[in-house]
Amino acid sequence: MAKAKTQFICSNCGYTSARYLGRCPNCGQWNTLIEEKIVPEAVVNRKARISFDGRVAKPKKISEISGNELPRTRTGLRELNRVLGGGIVPGSLILIGGDPGIGKSTLMLQVSGQLAENGGSVLYVSGEESDNQIKLRADRLGVGSDSFIVYPETDMEQIKSIVQQIEPDYLVIDSVQTMQEPDLQSPIGSVAQIREVTANLMQIAKTNAITVFIVGHVTKDGSIAGPKILEHMVDTVLYFEGDANYKYRILRTVKNRFGSTNELGIFEMRDHGLREVANPSEIFLEERLAGATGSAITASMEGSRPILVEVQALVAPTVFGNAQRVTTGVDRNRVSQILAVLEKHANLLLQNQDAHVRITGGVKIDEPAADLAIALAVASSYHEKATNASDVFLGEVGLGGEVRSISLIEDRLKEIAKLGFKRAIVSKNNLAGIDLPKGLQVIGVSTLEEALKLGLDLNRASKQKGFADL
Ligand code: TYD
Ligand code: MG
Repeated sequence: MAKAKTQFICSNCGYTSARYLGRCPNCGQWNTLIEEKIVPEAVVNRKARISFDGRVAKPKKISEISGNELPRTRTGLRELNRVLGGGIVPGSLILIGGDPGIGKSTLMLQVSGQLAENGGSVLYVSGEESDNQIKLRADRLGVGSDSFIVYPETDMEQIKSIVQQIEPDYLVIDSVQTMQEPDLQSPIGSVAQIREVTANLMQIAKTNAITVFIVGHVTKDGSIAGPKILEHMVDTVLYFEGDANYKYRILRTVKNRFGSTNELGIFEMRDHGLREVANPSEIFLEERLAGATGSAITASMEGSRPILVEVQALVAPTVFGNAQRVTTGVDRNRVSQILAVLEKHANLLLQNQDAHVRITGGVKIDEPAADLAIALAVASSYHEKATNASDVFLGEVGLGGEVRSISLIEDRLKEIAKLGFKRAIVSKNNLAGIDLPKGLQVIGVSTLEEALKLGLDLNRASKQKGFADL
């Protein structure tokens, strides 16, 4: 066997170089090149090339390939089924990333328990907790089926042989950072190890049609440690997010070969594990103060589902230096732009005011449909006048102060009506040819000024500052 040489690989993009470089020429990141050994060509196992269903592949005409819908196993957690695109595709490789302590192990334990109860066999490999610890937690979660097997191990060779022996339907690896390929010289948790371990897991998944869940911890900068390469290798990437200080957790699809991305599942962390939140709009609105200023409701599309969220704004005079714009859950530039439009087209003097804008409940919004609600929340705080608690605002705000139409208006209006709101203020252009839900008054406006007059009821309040000219 030829002596193994080393090469340098970028932990961010996978670029390889023969020598060390401070900055990756491919992705431009600093200090991401990591040394690893090159396995000589002759040692690479050619048998590793196996098709999706475990047989040697043949080229076929596309018309000859049967395009049957993928079979899916539904888990007992509907929110999980949703983010997976309808259920688990057998033989797929699913990566679940998230901060330490967010609840990945809890989720996997619950899902494993349910799969085992529905007749599947599950092998749960933990490199982080002893079987005793897992048992204690499983008891708390009410997981106790006989086809649920716990295996505290980190050595991939051992794991492979046990998988061959037990032939489970599902394999859970908690976490990929703790597993190791003993033949590889690199330390546990290094890029080379993680890549090798994942390649092995991919082989296990594809040759035996075992569904593999891989748990991966996320580093401070938000990438799964050992990093993008891992995301390229798996079929589905889910991120488990949320603030450990709040009880709500969001499971987000980042990549899915078997469904759409940007789907969202919402859970609540309880004493006895995670509970699904069937109606997220209600929880995001439940803490809303009646009659408070600087608040407006909008309906944001999260994947295929509209969710009602509250936009909060606080506008206060700048005490020192430049006016600040602070945002949470919404793009700062977008907010700056809306503030500029308010200044120019609605006579709000905002340049000497600090503005804080946030979306409550830890939700992130990146679509223009929330513009109008942001504008309303800012104007509401500025004028110290509350929006009507039963109004919802939908629309993109253009630079000319116009309110523009948005996508999927009917889905959003349906959700708004379902939650008992009375009025929706939308772009006039959105009204043509749509079905209006019962019990909801939908008002079309063309300009931001009209929307502000309606939403803040400005005609009746003439004493407030800045109203005279509206
Ligand atoms: P865990 O699943 O261990 O996180 P991860 O695997 O992502 O590191 O979750 C740990 C947290 O969840 C811990 O702070 C305790 C909390 N928790 C509950 O609140 N209720 C429960 O039933 C369980 C099992 C955990
Ligand atoms: Mg864990």
